[in-house]
Amino acid sequence: MARAPAKVILVGEHWVVHGGRAVAAAIGLYAVAQCKAKPGDRVIVRSRELGVEEELDRCRDLCNLAAAWRHIAARHGFRGAVCELSSDIPPGAGLGSSAAVAAAFAAAYLCVASGGVLDRELVNRAAFEAEKITHGNPSGIDNTVSVYGGIVVYRRGREPRRVRASTAGSLLVVNTGIERSTRVAVEKFSARLASLPGSLAAEMIRLNDIAAGYAVRALREGDYGALGRVMNLSHGLLQSMGVSLAELDTIVELLRDMGVYGAKLSGAGLGGVVIAVAEENAAERIAEELRRRGYDAFRAVLPAPGVRVQTL
Ligand code: MEV
Repeated sequence: MARAPAKVILVGEHWVVHGGRAVAAAIGLYAVAQCKAKPGDRVIVRSRELGVEEELDRCRDLCNLAAAWRHIAARHGFRGAVCELSSDIPPGAGLGSSAAVAAAFAAAYLCVASGGVLDRELVNRAAFEAEKITHGNPSGIDNTVSVYGGIVVYRRGREPRRVRASTAGSLLVVNTGIERSTRVAVEKFSARLASLPGSLAAEMIRLNDIAAGYAVRALREGDYGALGRVMNLSHGLLQSMGVSLAELDTIVELLRDMGVYGAKLSGAGLGGVVIAVAEENAAERIAEELRRRGYDAFRAVLPAPGVRVQTL
């Protein structure tokens, strides 16, 4: 059995697709995969959330997982298995549910194929193959955070850097319930970025990089007030690139009025979640008040550990 966490992006979503820097953290919501070896070379996967059962060699809805499976099988041989998937992570919400499911599946299948050895690098590459099928042009941040856990500074094509936060932070998450496609949001952002005149696109990417640097410093120093101010700026940058929505902006404003340090959309935008950092005592009160008003609001402790495997 393997368990892989969801993630939130604190600063830098979308910019990271274009070579910018992002800071992301694993949070304690999980996708779980259980794989059992079976004779032959066929791999059958059942997804509780999607309500489907497929043989990966003839995939329809689970072709992302078929890509992960082929990547692992190319190294360890085609071993037969039956796998069950389940997840507590809301899909299409910006919390990296597809990457966490792919990481959990890849880790559980790898353990069956390799006789119990968890090679994180291989799991990460396999989950990235799955993400390419799901999203088209992923930066790799979602699978990396899910596989390695913790808080990570990520730039495409470079080794992820771990950030040691001086205190564990408490995050507020508010889900709009508006499901959206990461692929569509990435295309919209990319088109807007490409349309900027002169060197403006490069300058915007640089500005986000500077903001990400301040977020890292704030995390290291345990200065959640400063982190909140950077998150506010980050939301403004994303808004200017067309990936926010009135519903997201309303929640961001509401959270700020309720006294959080900072709030922003997180993930691809165009729906999904808003995240906020708040003073520890205020966070629970604000979450409760939001639930009373009918919002799907919860608290998440960050950071969570990366993918884990266990033999049942
Ligand atoms: C999605 O969680 C984050 C995006 O930056 C896409 C990506 O990095 O692959 C929007």
